Amino acid sequence: MAHIISLTNQKGGVGKTTTSVNLAVSLAVSEMKTLLIDLDPQSNATTGIEELLMESKGTIYDALIRGSATKDVITKTQLDYLDIITSTGDLVGAEVELVSVMAREHQLEKVLKPILRKYDYILVDCPPSLGLLTLNALTCSDTVIIPIQCEYYALEGLGQLLNTIRLVQKNLNPNLEIEGVLLTMYDGRLNLSKQVADEVRSYFEDKLFKTVIQRNVRLSEAPSFGKPVLLYDANSTGAQNYMSLVEEILSHGN
Ligand SMILES: Nc1ncnc2c1ncn2[C@@H]1O[C@H](COP(=O)(O)OP(=O)(O)OP(=O)(O)O)[C@@H](O)[C@H]1O
Ligand SMILES: [Mg+2]
Repeated sequence: MAHIISLTNQKGGVGKTTTSVNLAVSLAVSEMKTLLIDLDPQSNATTGIEELLMESKGTIYDALIRGSATKDVITKTQLDYLDIITSTGDLVGAEVELVSVMAREHQLEKVLKPILRKYDYILVDCPPSLGLLTLNALTCSDTVIIPIQCEYYALEGLGQLLNTIRLVQKNLNPNLEIEGVLLTMYDGRLNLSKQVADEVRSYFEDKLFKTVIQRNVRLSEAPSFGKPVLLYDANSTGAQNYMSLVEEILSHGN
């Protein structure tokens, strides 16, 4: 059965998409059958690996709102172990359209149900909000990864996110757990990065991943070539960091 992980933080630009894409590819390269779901109307996960996509199928909007069969919205990639469900800007409408749907928080769960046996891991790249799309992701997930950017105000808004996770655990998905909190864009030369890391460590203790994603220009360049960092520059620090994250997640078991 697939282990479903949501990448979430309502704060924008903290590394959700970079982590979703590169973690998905690193899992696939480690021969874990992986499905990446782009649940953000900004479609950054989709465009970030555009070069790898085979014949384009429907999108997550088609499955969530138009009732398309899940198998018809899965796009294959050049990597044998990686599939993706893409998104486009029309997903923005889903936040509103889902409001009037019965069991509106369970729609993604329904979409994924028929394919759970096909994958080892399903990663959901969430939008930067705590709206219905993110609630759908949390409701169907086993765990969440919370990326935190090593910057000023890193912990701002985190209380609200943790509160949302608690509410989901109480009302929608009692099995939801935190897989880990991930420090991103870490710069060892900056005192600020170290301070944020210390603060996050004292707050989350053993929930903080030992792997830290360093600031690495290759990670920010790769998406403009439509490629994950492993295929753009396999020797880069960014590629290595995401491979160690895979090792750490695999050591958690499933
Ligand atoms: N480790 C890193 N080193 C350098 N640049 C990075 C790193 N991680 C992410 N970036 C860059 O920072 C920006 C924000 O990252 P990303 O898009 O992954 O964040 P996000 O949380 O998905 O944003 P949004 O909330 O808009 O969805 C992007 O331009 C990305 O290329
Ligand atoms: Mg994003």
